[in-house]
Amino acid sequence: MKAVVIHEYGDENVMHYQDFPTPTPGPRDVLIQIKAACASRSDTARRSGTYGGATGNRPLPFINGLDVAGVVVDRGPGVTEREVGDRVVALLANGGYAEYVACHVASTASIPPNIGFEQACTIPVIWMTAWFGLLYEGELKAGETALVNAAGSGIGSAGIQIAKAHGARVITTAGADWKLQRAKAELGADETVNYTTQDTVAEVLRLTGGRGVDVALDAVGGQVYLDSIRCLAEGGRLVSVGAASGGRPSDDPATLTDKHVTTKQFGLPTAIQKGLVRPELQKCMDMLGQGRFKAVIHQVLPLSQVREAHRIIASRDIFGRVVLVP
Ligand SMILES: NC(=O)c1ccc[n+]([C@@H]2O[C@H](COP(=O)([O-])OP(=O)(O)OC[C@H]3O[C@@H](n4cnc5c(N)ncnc54)[C@H](OP(=O)(O)O)[C@@H]3O)[C@@H](O)[C@H]2O)c1
Repeated sequence: MKAVVIHEYGDENVMHYQDFPTPTPGPRDVLIQIKAACASRSDTARRSGTYGGATGNRPLPFINGLDVAGVVVDRGPGVTEREVGDRVVALLANGGYAEYVACHVASTASIPPNIGFEQACTIPVIWMTAWFGLLYEGELKAGETALVNAAGSGIGSAGIQIAKAHGARVITTAGADWKLQRAKAELGADETVNYTTQDTVAEVLRLTGGRGVDVALDAVGGQVYLDSIRCLAEGGRLVSVGAASGGRPSDDPATLTDKHVTTKQFGLPTAIQKGLVRPELQKCMDMLGQGRFKAVIHQVLPLSQVREAHRIIASRDIFGRVVLVP
């Protein structure tokens, strides 16, 4: 099969589109013919060897890619839950930038018939991170107000929609006005703040009548993370799921706000290990099929153009996901 293989950590040029042995499914695995794979900021960190997540950098050589959509073409002898021909998404530890991947059947969820592979592959990692961050760690309830940072990011574009679908009022931020306009027009955000040109804390307090927000979801880090703590209402919860700007300051909320607030970190790998993710992923896929969510795709590229995909992600001039088609 063709795959994108990384033999050393570095910039986009360490990714090589080459022949690679097609995997064989283990006893509880399915073999998926990949129709679309999602490229993400986490992949760029794994490629460069700077990934700080719970699972750390991958041993070399490796095939990047955590989210795929495709068709089951083979299965191990212990698999009864899936048939050859099933359309599935899968949440992987790696191996997505390829024509085929073998993965445990429990990593898969069904794709609704009206949803295409390119849309479907954008869901697993990012949507589950925003989903667990807002609904489980953040305990967001209908009628509350959520602050969702970086409207054009994977986490942000999912988080806005998840919070709205669960009855929250959503204030979203971004570093560019065009992203904020799209967040309102296409994703349903109620209010927007440009964190490069506006005073985020003053603006969020103004928009909430001085009260602040109940839940903040942050994957930007740095000043945006600190400001998000200052935006919380009494009893507010900040959930940090990433630090795209490079750092997550060590926080002592007591030095940032007089209010009683909680800060938490959430990492999807822990929830996967606890077996919590698959049922929620299926619920989310079903809501996508019902038209309650929309996948946000910035661009679709052939897998062979993976280097361009990573350049686009690094540019920040992006709204939603980059999808790779083998
Ligand atoms: N906890 C988990 O399990 C988990 C799962 C998936 C991802 N993550 C992490 O979550 C973070 C976001 O992932 P993502 O896929 O949503 O990223 P993304 O789509 O690339 O978006 C990152 C956003 O951060 C904003 N940003 C602000 N300052 C930035 C800077 N200095 N450099 C780059 N971006 C900056 C950008 O928006 P503006 O240009 O509008 O400022 C950009 O849209 C990453 O750190 C990723 O590793 C964590």
